Amino acid sequence: MRIDFCSGPLTQVPNAVLVVCGFEGSPATNGTVEQLPAESRRLLEELQAAGELTGKSYECTLLHRPAGLAAQKLLVVGAGKKEKFSDSQLRRVAGSAVRFLRARGIHELAWVLGGAEASLIQAIVEGAILADYDADRYRTEQNAERRIDHLLLATGGASPSEAMLGAAERGRIVGETQNYVRELVNEPANKMTPTLLALRAQEMATRHGFDCQVLGPQEIRDLKMGAFWSVAQGSEEPPRLIVVRYSPPDAPEKPVVGLVGKGITFDAGGISIKPSDNLHEMKTDMAGGAAMLGAMQAVAQLKAPVRVVAVIPATENMPSGKAAKPGDVVISMSGKTIEILNTDAEGRLVLADALTYAKQLGCTVLIDAATLTGAITVALGNISTGVFGWNQEWVSRVLASAAAAGERMWQMPLDEDYRELYKSAIADLANSGGRYAGAITAAMFVGEFAGDTPWVHLDIAGTRWANEEKPYLAKGATGVVVRTLVHLLTNLAS
Ligand code: BES
Ligand code: MN
Ligand code: ZN
Repeated sequence: MRIDFCSGPLTQVPNAVLVVCGFEGSPATNGTVEQLPAESRRLLEELQAAGELTGKSYECTLLHRPAGLAAQKLLVVGAGKKEKFSDSQLRRVAGSAVRFLRARGIHELAWVLGGAEASLIQAIVEGAILADYDADRYRTEQNAERRIDHLLLATGGASPSEAMLGAAERGRIVGETQNYVRELVNEPANKMTPTLLALRAQEMATRHGFDCQVLGPQEIRDLKMGAFWSVAQGSEEPPRLIVVRYSPPDAPEKPVVGLVGKGITFDAGGISIKPSDNLHEMKTDMAGGAAMLGAMQAVAQLKAPVRVVAVIPATENMPSGKAAKPGDVVISMSGKTIEILNTDAEGRLVLADALTYAKQLGCTVLIDAATLTGAITVALGNISTGVFGWNQEWVSRVLASAAAAGERMWQMPLDEDYRELYKSAIADLANSGGRYAGAITAAMFVGEFAGDTPWVHLDIAGTRWANEEKPYLAKGATGVVVRTLVHLLTNLAS
């Protein structure tokens, strides 16, 4: 999608569909509709009086040959209640317009800006790009001819400032990155094995000129990653440990941010095998790893002056004659011993060794993202990502970035008293704490391997996936947490 600004009076914006927003209650007189000439507003007032135009969220009303405008069509999008309006809502409103117009074979639109604020412009561009994505890679008849080619941002007057141009560019990078993550996560497990995920990481690193190192089975065993290996040993597909480093010369020595992403390319559960309902969705168990690759790509494009290392342990979790068995005891890279009570609690095992490795590589702050527990979905649904960590300063920074980037997150409690739940009778730790407080005990298990290093854990098991299509977003992978990470990493200096 090409993105350009378009200055000069709205009445003269040519060809494109002109898009304005109206708020609930009085959509004909409130919102960016106010910028339209009186002739076209009169038309909208009639529609409002007839009850056809309400301004309810995402309502789309398309008018042909609008009076007083050079544009051939005018689209009014409902922006919902004025009091509830925010950048997040604007992102969705812009997305709804895109999906509505695409479905009608329209390829170009001119969005009427309601102001010059950077966050507002970034949200519109992000929303438009996110909405223009569909998981149709494997359809023989693709929606390609339905995509939007050109988004114009109409100022209605002056040319855009440097800040406005910068915001549009940031929106493009963040939106495209989030779609890149969604594309990785939507891939089926036969097209996204650990080997193929590592190849994608290498491609991405080469494209943006940074270092990518990929370790295989022998190296994983040589590093004594007994926890990671116990998950990988049951699969025919060889595991990969993906390490991507970004260290621009102008970045300060510290912090070195470690991004650790769970990269299970298919989670069958191992010997503690999962039931077959919705098992196909377990191809998404590498969503944490994909988010980290996305964050690296965006940070490089935005030239953020910060050192970042992404560590992604990638493997399948399969049952076989070679698979780990419940009751097995393994020695993690850290030296801590783990009794595997449930082979389906594999995420914390691979994260344990990946965190130890990230610390060994010199990371001074750690963030992990993982589709870790069904329990977080019970607690927070598909709506909010669970946030965990002992270091409140770091947790608060992540939460602040999430709020700024428009991703919903909710902090969950950690407490020493939960330790009881994942004690082992024969080893240092057990990899399952049972049903009670499942998301918390999983997080705390992972945190044991972060040790004293400031660490935040993001459980994205619920938010990685949208079960239904929305007016502004396709069903499937959401590309979640990438916007928060990009905001955090690009604002670390301040
Ligand atoms: N990958 C799953 C968690 C998951 C569930 C992700 C649903 C996305 C949707 C994870 O590896 C897992 O199986 N967790 C177990 C842990 C239990 C065995 C302690 C769970 O949540 O049931
Ligand atoms: Mn599992
Ligand atoms: Zn899993």
